[in-house]
Amino acid sequence: MSHVVVISGHPDLEQSFTNTVILDQLASRLDSVDIRRLDTLYPDYKIDVAAEQAALIKADIIVLQYPFYWYTMPGLLKKWMDDVMTFNFAYGPEGDKLKDKELIASFTVGGPQDAYDPLGYNHFPIEQFMYPIQQTAYLAGLKYNKPVYTHQMVYIPGVYNKLEDVQARARDHGNRLLSLIHTLSNSPENRIKSFVANWFSAMDKLEEDTSSYTTALAEDLNMVMPEGTFTGHSGFRDWYAGARKVFKPDCVHTIEQIDIKNEGSGYHVELRIRLIADTFEDSHLNGQSLNLLVNEVWKLSMSDNGQITIHDYLVTPV
Ligand SMILES: Cc1cc2nc3c(=O)[nH]c(=O)nc-3n(C[C@H](O)[C@H](O)[C@H](O)COP(=O)(O)O)c2cc1C
Repeated sequence: MSHVVVISGHPDLEQSFTNTVILDQLASRLDSVDIRRLDTLYPDYKIDVAAEQAALIKADIIVLQYPFYWYTMPGLLKKWMDDVMTFNFAYGPEGDKLKDKELIASFTVGGPQDAYDPLGYNHFPIEQFMYPIQQTAYLAGLKYNKPVYTHQMVYIPGVYNKLEDVQARARDHGNRLLSLIHTLSNSPENRIKSFVANWFSAMDKLEEDTSSYTTALAEDLNMVMPEGTFTGHSGFRDWYAGARKVFKPDCVHTIEQIDIKNEGSGYHVELRIRLIADTFEDSHLNGQSLNLLVNEVWKLSMSDNGQITIHDYLVTPV
């Protein structure tokens, strides 16, 4: 399951009739979600940049959830963007931290659809107001999705709309957003990302049982490791037994980079993995603590039902 980070840019959710409904729906229907309510986190507008960047790094899908204010996002969300999208994080020579994550702008609009038309009082279609966000996504390497938005969401008792109508539209909005999140989570790229994340969290634990790994390995697996070459399931088990004699459990594998290419017949995955681990005294590493970086190249196939199989697994120290 993809991890979803929702940045709520409403400046005061206590006063919200629609964004709050959408956020509650996301909270109750997504398994792996971090909803960051900027109004309660940062009532003084002082954004904790490190905390926000750390949250984004964990995300597969980033949702910006906000009310449409003066044809764009509220100032609080713009401040978040100005502060968080820094040099060498979102752009610049090392600014690849958001690369290939999915971005969804999800917002509620006060005006009716026919106002957003050359002949209407707002003149331009909503999509034209999206250009700054769209281009920001391109610059940061984020995958820009068509926005999810809903018109006629302003509720002023006795003046604009009925509460039950705006809230019904908000629930429909939430359903459309959830369906897009579901579609993106099931894309081959996102399935592979979840698979890789699960693989390394199992490797962190280094449990004795190898069945959860071997179900994902081709019978004729080709594994080229710094320790030597290993073939098939028995080869994997030999390598794994050797690793368990050297590395203590509860090590930490961090996926610093992942690049997935669809080669037609399968997927070519390039990874940069950092391993922080303690080793056993009686191993050839004599109890040293390690912090090392490796490059990995995996060749995968995916069946029609999304089952992933590893065919080639190549690891080289950096
Ligand atoms: C400061 C402000 C600016 C707004 N600007 C626009 C706008 O440019 N276009 C529009 O259609 N609605 C506009 N609205 C209406 C909001 O989009 C609408 O109230 C909001 O989406 C409702 O969300 P909520 O119930 O979560 O507060 C504005 C509202 C406020 C308070």
